[in-house]
Parts: sequence; C-alpha cells; structure tokens
Amino acid sequence: MKLPSSVPLLSVLILAGHVHGSISAPFQWNFSESPRPFVVNVEKEFIDNTRLKASLTRFVTPIQEPDPLEGPSIYNATTIRDYWVNEYDWDKVEKHLNQNLQQYTTTVKLSATAQYLEPIPLHFVHHRSPRADAVPLLFIHGWPGSFIEVENIINSLTHPPNDTMPAFHVVAPSIPGFAFSPAPITTGFGDYEAAQAFHALMIQLNYTKYVIQAGDVGGVIMRYQAHLFPENVLAGLNNFWVVSPSQSDRERYEKNATTADETYVINSLDNFFNKHWAYGQIQQTQPLRLAHAMTDSPVGLAMWIYAAVSAVVDNPGVWTPEEIITWTMMHYMQGPYSTFRLYKEGALNGAFNLTAFDDLPMVEQPMAISEFPLDIWYRTPLEWAQRTGNVQKRYMHDRGGHFPAWETPHFLLDDIWDFFGQLDISHTWGMNIGE
Ligand SMILES: *[C@@H]1O[C@H](CO)[C@@H](O)[C@H](O)[C@H]1NC(C)=O
Ligand SMILES: *[C@@H]1O[C@H](CO)[C@@H](O)[C@H](O)[C@H]1NC(C)=O
Ligand SMILES: *[C@@H]1O[C@H](CO)[C@@H](O)[C@H](O)[C@H]1NC(C)=O
Ligand SMILES: *[C@@H]1O[C@H](CO)[C@@H](O)[C@H](O)[C@H]1NC(C)=O
Ligand SMILES: *[C@@H]1O[C@H](CO)[C@@H](O)[C@H](O)[C@H]1NC(C)=O
Ligand SMILES: *[C@@H]1O[C@H](CO)[C@@H](O)[C@H](O)[C@H]1NC(C)=O
Repeated sequence: MKLPSSVPLLSVLILAGHVHGSISAPFQWNFSESPRPFVVNVEKEFIDNTRLKASLTRFVTPIQEPDPLEGPSIYNATTIRDYWVNEYDWDKVEKHLNQNLQQYTTTVKLSATAQYLEPIPLHFVHHRSPRADAVPLLFIHGWPGSFIEVENIINSLTHPPNDTMPAFHVVAPSIPGFAFSPAPITTGFGDYEAAQAFHALMIQLNYTKYVIQAGDVGGVIMRYQAHLFPENVLAGLNNFWVVSPSQSDRERYEKNATTADETYVINSLDNFFNKHWAYGQIQQTQPLRLAHAMTDSPVGLAMWIYAAVSAVVDNPGVWTPEEIITWTMMHYMQGPYSTFRLYKEGALNGAFNLTAFDDLPMVEQPMAISEFPLDIWYRTPLEWAQRTGNVQKRYMHDRGGHFPAWETPHFLLDDIWDFFGQLDISHTWGMNIGE
C-alpha cells in the first residue's frame, strides 16, 4: 500500500490495520507506534466455521502400503479431523496462551536505506526477568512453528534456578504472516528484512545490546541480524547453522577421505535434499499455487505441516493432535500464503535455492551451535560452521530434533545457560544492560 507522504504515520497504521482486518484476519488488529498489550481473541464464528470445514474434509482414496515418504497417512488425516471436530477446544488454547505468554503489538519501520519501507506491524511475547543483571534475549521461531515455540523455555530463562546462572529478558516476535503479526502487504519482505525488523523491535524496547537464540528460518534471520548489527548483537546460539559442503569436501567424500562427522552430515543433507525438500521447492517457487487449497482446507494444511514436523521430531509424545492443530491454526488464521512465501523471499535473499543452502554472510560475534540427532546438520563439524562465523562451541545432544525449545527444552536451556553464561561471551554480567 502506498500513501502520500503527507499522511501522518498514525493514520497510515490505522488504515493499514483496517485493510488487513477486512482481508482475512479473524481477530482485531490494533497497532500503534509503541507497544500495547495484546490478548488473543479469535472470532467465534471463524473457529466454528473452521471446525465445520474440518468436519467436511474429503479424504484421499487409499492404496495399499504407499511409501511413507509420499506423505502423512490417511489415518493421520482422519485422526486430526476427528480430534478437530470432537475434542479440539480453541477457547482452552486461547486461555492458556493468554495466561502463559504476555503478548504485545507494535509497529516498526526499517531505516531509510532499507529496501522495504512499509511500516511493519509486529506481534511479540515479552517477559522481563526480575534479575537486575538479566541479558536481553531475542528468540526467533521457525517454519512451520510460531511464537508458541518459546513457551517451554521462557520461564526458566527469566527465572533460572539460582543466581549463579544467567537470567534473560525474553522477546519472541511473530515473523510477519505467522500467528498475529500481519502478513507483509507487498513483496520484498524476507529473512533479511525480518532481521532488520526484529532489530528495530529490540531498539524500540530499549534493548540496545542483546543475544539471539534461534533455529530453522529463525536461525537464518539470526545470522543476517548478527551480520547487520555487530554493535548490538553480542552473541548467538543457533540450533540450525546451515552450511553446505564445499567442492573440496565433496571431493574428499568421493575418495572416502572425510571424517565420520563429515560423512554423516553429507549423507543426511543429500537424503534431505533428495527425499524431503519438495515442500521447500514449491514454497520457494510457487507459493500462491499451493496457497489456494491450503487456505481453504484446515486438515489439508495440518497434513502439510505434520509432514514437515513429524520427520524431524524425536519424541512423538510432544506432538499430540491438539498441538498439531494449534500449530496449524497459527498459519491457518491468516492463511498460509505468506508463511509459504517466506521461502520465496528467503531464496531471493540468497539463503537457499532449489538444491542447497547457500553460504550466509560472515558473523564476527561469538556464536555457538546446538545439534540434535533428528535434525539435519547433526554432527556438523565446528570447522564447517566457522567458515561463515566466529563459532566457538558445538553442543551435541543424543536426543531431540528440529524444535528443541519445544521438544527438549532442558537440553536447549543448558546450552543457553552455558554459552551465554560465559563472562567473555556475553560481555554483559553486572552491566544491567537490560535496564
Ligand atoms: C486499540 O487500543 C487502544 C489503546 O489500548 C484502545 O484505546 C482502543 O480502544 C483499541 N481499539 C480497538 C478497536 O480495539
Ligand atoms: C500418523 O501415522 C503414523 C503411521 O500410521 C503413526 O505412527 C502416527 O502415530 C500417526 N500420527 C498421528 C498424529 O495420527
Ligand atoms: C544452580 O542450579 C544448577 C542447575 O540446577 C546447578 O547445577 C548448580 O549446582 C546450582 N548452583 C548453586 C550454587 O546452587
Ligand atoms: C525506552 O526509553 C525511552 C526513553 O527513555 C522511553 O521514553 C520509552 O518509554 C522506553 N520504551 C520502553 C518500551 O520501555
Ligand atoms: C569408498 O568406500 C566404499 C565403501 O566402503 C567403497 O565401495 C569404495 O570403493 C571406496 N572408494 C574409494 C575411492 O576408495
Ligand atoms: C544451488 O546452490 C548450490 C550451492 O551454492 C549450487 O551448487 C547449485 O548449483 C545451486 N542450484 C541451483 C538449482 O541453482
């Protein structure tokens, strides 16, 4: 949306909110130039219509024993349909989110030198620690996750078990298009722009020095952000440090001259790109083609999301039908077009292409990587990660997968406390930088 420059910013925001609201969001938008408390309150009619749509799901005609790689089973689809129709209680979910996560909305603008100049309305979680020496920590979620990924770690971060461990003020924004951050209204908003927007958010909250924890697409955003704002981003812990094998790694691999870790990570990447990356290729090339059906079918979208998540989580117990539906809702409420499109913008930003992840810009600040066995890039050697970053430490776990904040929060918390707890890493102890 372009408006004459004489229109004051506030009216732009209200108008933008109105435009968003009249398009598809089943909740009130009310964005200002500074943070305002936000309460999740989705229209009942939308919740009822979604349940009705789920009840009318048309199922695939089964064949005998298809390769599980083809997609989730018809049993999975009927399980989710049945749960959605008979048991899923959005009111309970909503109440839970409002009780456990203090949420806000605000609007940021990128600097005049940025490519993307529209105002960016953001929804975010913000919990302050009572500790005077707490360090501001930005947590960035991934796809197909959302801000709710932070839920299982946030209280331990603000209130660690004792004073010998670092405490954090936690900010967990929704990437535009996910959950309650409005989808971008023009093209040109990708991982790079999200990095600029989340930095602007931290500055608006007066956190001029901060650390970042992230994985998946958040792990890409985090590296742009650290690269772009070396004075502000003190350090980072990344549980998805993408790095492709180099030409010479490939040559050594062909000659059986790679180390066990290198061989493992090359095999797992090749397996991922050959057998599991089709969803990403569609999202990065033709997100709109995919979005028409997915916007209309809650169970269809749930299966798209379930396929992505079930392949990379270790503990089926953490991934219940209720959670599958709630995660789906965070994409379904606005429609998933822009959450798919993030892949297109990510590819344009140079983060990845149809067959590989590209090298991201160099990061000089101290970084650490956390690796989990059900995720790709498990056993990535530190030397590989160091090609594009000052990566000082590798934490390897024997359990867990792609969403550690949700699935194995204690492992991730241990890494966060250990890495950011080092005085010379965060440079923050006793400096009260969060005040
Ligand atoms: C938007 O927020 C302001 C300030 O909190 C409040 O006064 C106003 O009533 C809200 N408007 C809507 C439509 O919710
Ligand atoms: C999905 O189907 C697989 C194989 O039939 C099964 O192991 C898994 O528990 C199912 N998950 C759900 C949520 O239905
Ligand atoms: C603080 O808590 C951690 C984790 O529970 C524990 O390992 C450590 O020994 C505790 N330190 C003190 C001084 O109580
Ligand atoms: C940030 O600091 C400024 C100047 O002290 C103050 O006006 C503003 O309210 C602060 N913002 C927040 C979110 O605390
Ligand atoms: C590498 O190892 C495999 C399996 O052990 C073997 O088949 C192949 O011939 C070896 N290649 C080279 C170049 O040594
Ligand atoms: C994707 O990037 C990789 C690594 O930079 C490169 O080798 C490959 O040719 C690219 N593929 C496409 C389809 O552009």
